Amino acid sequence: MALLEVDDVIVRFGGVTAVNQASFTAERGRITGLIGPNGAGKTTCFNVITGLQKPTSGRVRYRDRDVTGWPVHRRAHQGIGRTFQRLEAFGSLSVKDNVRVAREIHGGPKAWFRSEGRAALEVEVLLDRVGIGEYGDERADSIPTGAARLLELARALACDPMLLLLDEPSSGLDETETDSFGALLSELASEGVAILMVEHDMDLVMTVCDEIHVLDFGEIIASGAPADIRSDGKVQRAYLGYSDDDDSGADHTSELEAVTP
Ligand SMILES: Nc1ncnc2c1ncn2[C@@H]1O[C@H](COP(=O)(O)OP(=O)(O)OP(=O)(O)O)[C@@H](O)[C@H]1O
Ligand SMILES: [Mg+2]
Repeated sequence: MALLEVDDVIVRFGGVTAVNQASFTAERGRITGLIGPNGAGKTTCFNVITGLQKPTSGRVRYRDRDVTGWPVHRRAHQGIGRTFQRLEAFGSLSVKDNVRVAREIHGGPKAWFRSEGRAALEVEVLLDRVGIGEYGDERADSIPTGAARLLELARALACDPMLLLLDEPSSGLDETETDSFGALLSELASEGVAILMVEHDMDLVMTVCDEIHVLDFGEIIASGAPADIRSDGKVQRAYLGYSDDDDSGADHTSELEAVTP
């Protein structure tokens, strides 16, 4: 059984159906991509998985349990971690303190009883791992956007997630940072983390994902390996806004086709 199972989830906001009977899974040791155009319902899916959004119908199963009615903090304690599309770090705290706070809030008693020195060391190791060790003592609102994104990741990793949800994690990263970021994701997956990633950078998605689900107007229109998704006509039309008699999406299509995993 997969670590996470999203089963037939519907989310309606008044007259808008943001998610429409979406079903997909995420498994330990694998990177799963969730892609689709703006407004397709990707973030809403994340909110349903983490407990911020109650689904209109459908279920979320995690670690063999139905967690649909569970509050956010209970899911977090069970190993569901996430980063947000908008940066959520505390701007006036240092980068290090942001990671420490995340660890203390979500780590429970185990984290509170760690010695000061041990906690500080763990924070440094984490910051080095995501590649922002040099910014440790800076205020979080003074660091470059790319580093702020990586701080979000460090904050999520500070809670030792078993399932890690990443909402557009590479926006603001330059090409080199994106490459190391992709390598880090693969490393985390090889350690057994299940990663579910919403991402618009197709190069990154096609390179690191084991499986991809494509959302369009709240519905999963395709699921499969990167190569299958890349060549799927439905995906090209829906996700890229491209159809045979309309070449307005041609630039994006070539972007999708140009990618070699
Ligand atoms: N709290 C809300 N109240 C009303 N409508 C909402 C709410 N949250 C999202 N929506 C609507 O639901 C739809 C899906 O939004 P969502 O943010 O999940 O899309 P997304 O795929 O994450 O898009 P993007 O790529 O732009 O981040 C959109 O039409 C959005 O306007
Ligand atoms: Mg979104």
